[in-house]
Amino acid sequence: MGFPLLMRSISLILLLFLFQSRSYTSSPNIKLPGDSLSLSVTDFGATGDGIHYDSSAIQSAIDACNRHYTSSSSICRVTFPPGTYLTAKLHLRSGVLLDVTENAVLLGGPRIEDYPAESSSDWYVVVANNATDVGITGGGAIDGQGSKFVVRFDEKKNVMVSWNQTGACLGDECRPRLVGFVDCRNVEIWNITLREPAYWCLHIVRCENTSVHDVTILGEFNTPNNDGIDIEDSNNTVITRCHIDTGDDAICPKTYTAPLYNLTATDCWIRTKSSAIKLGSASWFDFKGLVFDNITIFESHRGLGMQIRDGGNVSDITFSNINISTRYYDPSWWGRAEPIYITTCPRDSSSKEGSVSNLLFVNITIDSENGVFLSGSPNGLLSDIKFKNMNLTLRRWSNYSAGLVDYRPGCQGLVNHSATAGIIMEHVKGFSVENVDLKWTDDNLNAWNVPLEFRPSTVNNVSFVGFNSGLLHEIV
Ligand SMILES: *[C@@H]1O[C@H](CO)[C@@H](O)[C@H](O)[C@H]1NC(C)=O
Ligand SMILES: *[C@@H]1O[C@H](CO)[C@@H](O)[C@H](O)[C@H]1NC(C)=O
Ligand SMILES: *[C@@H]1O[C@H](CO)[C@@H](O)[C@H](O)[C@H]1NC(C)=O
Ligand SMILES: *[C@@H]1O[C@H](CO)[C@@H](O)[C@H](O)[C@H]1NC(C)=O
Ligand SMILES: *[C@@H]1O[C@H](CO)[C@@H](O)[C@H](O)[C@H]1NC(C)=O
Ligand SMILES: *[C@@H]1O[C@H](CO)[C@@H](O)[C@H](O)[C@H]1NC(C)=O
Ligand SMILES: *[C@@H]1O[C@H](CO)[C@@H](O)[C@H](O)[C@H]1NC(C)=O
Ligand SMILES: *[C@@H]1O[C@H](CO)[C@@H](O)[C@H](O)[C@H]1NC(C)=O
Ligand SMILES: *[C@@H]1O[C@H](CO)[C@@H](O)[C@H](O)[C@H]1NC(C)=O
Ligand SMILES: *[C@@H]1O[C@H](CO)[C@@H](O)[C@H](O)[C@H]1NC(C)=O
Ligand SMILES: *[C@@H]1O[C@H](CO)[C@@H](O)[C@H](O)[C@H]1NC(C)=O
Ligand SMILES: *[C@@H]1O[C@H](CO)[C@@H](O)[C@H](O)[C@H]1NC(C)=O
Repeated sequence: MGFPLLMRSISLILLLFLFQSRSYTSSPNIKLPGDSLSLSVTDFGATGDGIHYDSSAIQSAIDACNRHYTSSSSICRVTFPPGTYLTAKLHLRSGVLLDVTENAVLLGGPRIEDYPAESSSDWYVVVANNATDVGITGGGAIDGQGSKFVVRFDEKKNVMVSWNQTGACLGDECRPRLVGFVDCRNVEIWNITLREPAYWCLHIVRCENTSVHDVTILGEFNTPNNDGIDIEDSNNTVITRCHIDTGDDAICPKTYTAPLYNLTATDCWIRTKSSAIKLGSASWFDFKGLVFDNITIFESHRGLGMQIRDGGNVSDITFSNINISTRYYDPSWWGRAEPIYITTCPRDSSSKEGSVSNLLFVNITIDSENGVFLSGSPNGLLSDIKFKNMNLTLRRWSNYSAGLVDYRPGCQGLVNHSATAGIIMEHVKGFSVENVDLKWTDDNLNAWNVPLEFRPSTVNNVSFVGFNSGLLHEIV
């Protein structure tokens, strides 16, 4: 049951509460130890013709470079001159910098035998396990040939090859990731294009001190699971100057086995048919000390999102200087055009509830087809949330219909809801709104003339200072 508050043009002050001071994250300054040696893969027999597999030549060059690092402690480059290098799974090692030069492409093989008969979670085109001082650069590209995994094109969701033959994984998600760093320290990935992943693109797992900068990620807009950067259980990660255009979540911190601390993402441009930034849905441990600044989110299905489902707690997160445009796409994709979306409903009846606290949204410009959704749960409250200096313009420009509230994954799923509100709140304790302007176009008034909706009345300590809601164009 809901208790919508209908207010056409309001400016009110409710309870005030003090917002605790926050500490900003300091960025690790990753610098790989100076490189003293450079080995070309062609000297190890790579053809670069795009037809013959160069896997063993490339792996030999990597292993030779790693021996150099072990004896000298300075990193070694494995250089790819212009050409196309077809490869099965490669193991990147400590002290090795993959230098894929401009006009060179490292091409992931599309055959199941290119990825060993082990658990699908270990399928990558390039992966570093337990490595230190390791990275990728060069100005070239790593290409996963994702289109070769599509068996039937479909505007809503491509139908993908499922490599279920090994029994290692079930269903449609049996596809290799593109690049992975697992249990690594001092990782730097820069000046590289990562494109056409068959599954997730760049995966950072249980790493410490990772820098990703000047990276372009080009996935496929209709391919499910084409995530941009997935950061799991890792500390001290900096992402800056990235360009991500893909179908699934673009920057996606998750926690499976340990907490995630200190992630900063700045100066990025993102377009996606899912969430541009999403915490979760894997959320068994805490997320703390994350900063997202100077980011443009273009025509995405969701802007800033949190799907907290498994009992991990989220705290001390800042979103600043962000422009968001969100629109509807087919509802088979998670997202309902919400510029900001936070939910903590437990995934299923056996899941714990995680809470979300101390969030700051400041200097945010929004142009979207739907409003903000803040939905905690009885034991997963949203507390101390602040919106400061925000302009929201709500209008419709796609042809997809509205009228659904999205609790996926798990929870209540998609729920019918006729009105579209500016901000929906449930299970919120401590929400301060300061200098926020909400404008509506008049083309769909009956459907969305609800600036604020408390649903149900589990919302406490709300403060509005300088909140304005009204028509974008006054009716004359
Ligand atoms: C996170 O950053 C803070 C502030 O720089 C630092 O004190 C803390 O040790 C970092 N946490 C981890 C787990 O590295
Ligand atoms: C990780 O690498 C270190 C050396 O850097 C080694 O001592 C350790 O055994 C490795 N751990 C695993 C799980 O391979
Ligand atoms: C990126 O790579 C290109 C081609 O190798 C090179 O010319 C350029 O200097 C590199 N830029 C950076 C920032 O490293
Ligand atoms: C996947 O493989 C497993 C083990 O071989 C089998 O039990 C299962 O039915 C297969 N599933 C699909 C969707 O093909
Ligand atoms: C991150 O920091 C937390 C808290 O100190 C720690 O429990 C966790 O093991 C760290 N993770 C990594 C990958 O270093
Ligand atoms: C990560 O970087 C910090 C700051 O430079 C440094 O103190 C720490 O030792 C680094 N961690 C590892 C595992 O190298
Ligand atoms: C914001 O990021 C863009 C790149 O997306 C960059 O060109 C611009 O300089 C950044 N602005 C500031 C104030 O850092
Ligand atoms: C957001 O848009 C405003 C107005 O168009 C512009 O001044 C600002 O630089 C933009 N910020 C970002 C992060 O794109
Ligand atoms: C989240 O916070 C609650 C309440 O403080 C606590 O009981 C729970 O253990 C925390 N979750 C994790 C994963 O630490
Ligand atoms: C919001 O709009 C006002 C009036 O146009 C403008 O002065 C302000 O800079 C805008 N702020 C943001 C964060 O977009
Ligand atoms: C918000 O924008 C204002 C005006 O552009 C600027 O002075 C302020 O530093 C910004 N705040 C943050 C946290 O970036
Ligand atoms: C919406 O549908 C109309 C009529 O079918 C079509 O002309 C228009 O191009 C569509 N607009 C979009 C944004 O798809």
